Amino acid sequence: MPTIIASININGAEYALPPDPRVSLLDFLREHVNLPGAKKGCNQGACGACTVLVDGERILSCLALAVQYEGRSITSIEGLASDGALHPLQQSFIDHDGFQCGYCTPGQICSAIGMAAELRRGVPSYVTADVADATIALSNDELRERMSGNLCRCGAYNGIVAAIAEQHAKEAP
Ligand code: FES
Ligand code: FES
Repeated sequence: MPTIIASININGAEYALPPDPRVSLLDFLREHVNLPGAKKGCNQGACGACTVLVDGERILSCLALAVQYEGRSITSIEGLASDGALHPLQQSFIDHDGFQCGYCTPGQICSAIGMAAELRRGVPSYVTADVADATIALSNDELRERMSGNLCRCGAYNGIVAAIAEQHAKEAP
């Protein structure tokens, strides 16, 4: 009888899941697959440094077990560039000085991409005035509330907000 090896897709490549089901997705990325872009800040869901995308939705990889995501597609910061070109939001962070040490930056960028998808789906936030409105504008309050799970110890928030707002405006229909 053939052995079935459970796998997970990360940035377009298939990887066998770890035999130990206790391995977090963050540790799997950083220590098993050698993708250190997602950062271990708090390791308890409080800082956002470990944010990655699962089928386009943002999650905190420190709070997830790798085996939970069998058959799913993970995108980490290493998977955003294509054909040698940075993702437009990565470039926007550079243009707006949206980082200092850069430790929080991979999580900020993955989170902002996931946030944009939530807005397109009409997912309301705590500050959304009309939760029935399917078209939610990314006001300054919306942006700050929706990105409030991603902390920056360097305090580069002005540049982070400017980078995300600029990219969102470019993508607006
Ligand atoms: S390392 Fe995951 S939220 Fe801080
Ligand atoms: S750039 Fe240093 S923690 Fe955000």
